[in-house]
Amino acid sequence: MKILVTGCAGFIGYHFTNNILSKRNISVIGIDNINDYYDVNIKKNRLKNLKLKKNFTFYKIDLLEFNKLNKLIKKNKIKYIIHLAAQAGVRFSIENPRTYFDNNIKGFFNILEISKINNIKHLIYASTSSVYGDNKEFPLSEEYKTDSPLSFYAASKKTNEVMAHSYSYIYKIPSTGVRFFTVYGPFGRPDMALFKFTKNILNNKQIELFNGGLHVRDFTYVDDIINGIISIINRPSKKEIPYNIFNIGNGKPKKLLDYLKNIEKYLNKKAKIKKLPIQTGDIVKTHADIKKLKKYSNYVPRTNIEKGILKFIDWYKEYYKID
Ligand SMILES: NC(=O)c1ccc[n+]([C@@H]2O[C@H](COP(=O)([O-])OP(=O)(O)OC[C@H]3O[C@@H](n4cnc5c(N)ncnc54)[C@H](O)[C@@H]3O)[C@@H](O)[C@H]2O)c1
Repeated sequence: MKILVTGCAGFIGYHFTNNILSKRNISVIGIDNINDYYDVNIKKNRLKNLKLKKNFTFYKIDLLEFNKLNKLIKKNKIKYIIHLAAQAGVRFSIENPRTYFDNNIKGFFNILEISKINNIKHLIYASTSSVYGDNKEFPLSEEYKTDSPLSFYAASKKTNEVMAHSYSYIYKIPSTGVRFFTVYGPFGRPDMALFKFTKNILNNKQIELFNGGLHVRDFTYVDDIINGIISIINRPSKKEIPYNIFNIGNGKPKKLLDYLKNIEKYLNKKAKIKKLPIQTGDIVKTHADIKKLKKYSNYVPRTNIEKGILKFIDWYKEYYKID
């Protein structure tokens, strides 16, 4: 099976590619534009690891380069696409909505067109728990209302789901949107809490806790996310409209303050905390209802936050050569 992975130098794209390449008879064509939203060296080092694997080929291509991307897919006779490239981040979208429009909406349109032209057998694309906005009923089920996003990031991802539905209906493109819940793990994103907290605690710097740390998140270890994606690759919807949406989460939400306590415990060091008010666009609580995916593909999340945070900290210390 030949798979196109977009965003393969990103956090989740890297882990997905690394994992799937350990299976038999898989080859991956990876693309990424290596943008500088965060430290480019992290992306380069992820790629360096991937390039050690056989059956992996990388192309530096932007989603907006339609002809290049289309040619690549035609030439390689690709039939499966895992679309993970995007401009991520809720807070960054408040100051920079246009980059979300370009990368997430226009970029996704190209992926849909390419899926249509090349008769893709299954398009899986990343969506987010942010599409649930400030729903007050928990756990968050796929059936709940998602048409009141609180950030333009969430709006761009909800737009993807709606666009995919029309392509699945009109052109019968089998598509599955996967709504990830706060993903964390080794080689994670420097703009996310675990990375920022660890870095600042080690450097004796203050950490900023929005909403006083009272946010509740369904923190999901990256390997669980990857296993969730892998469990459905060969299971596109067989319905009249071949369209599906799944939550991929852990199902056990935790307070951000408890998450922080674990980081402090494993670093054996207290954080200097600066409590700040809630930010526009932030959601107070997420809690994934994961019954749908469990029933569909036997998905079971296996890593609790204690184990997951420890794995991240081990990676961080090794990567930055800290004793
Ligand atoms: N990490 C999370 O907690 C989380 C939660 C929900 C959803 N998601 C979604 O999962 C996907 C992967 O997220 P991530 O955390 O790995 O983010 P990431 O930023 O680490 O990875 C995204 C990658 O896409 C690349 N990219 C961006 N725009 C591109 C373009 N126009 N052309 C080619 N490459 C481009 C970036 O260079 C980056 O390497 C994204 O769609 C994100 O919105 C992530």
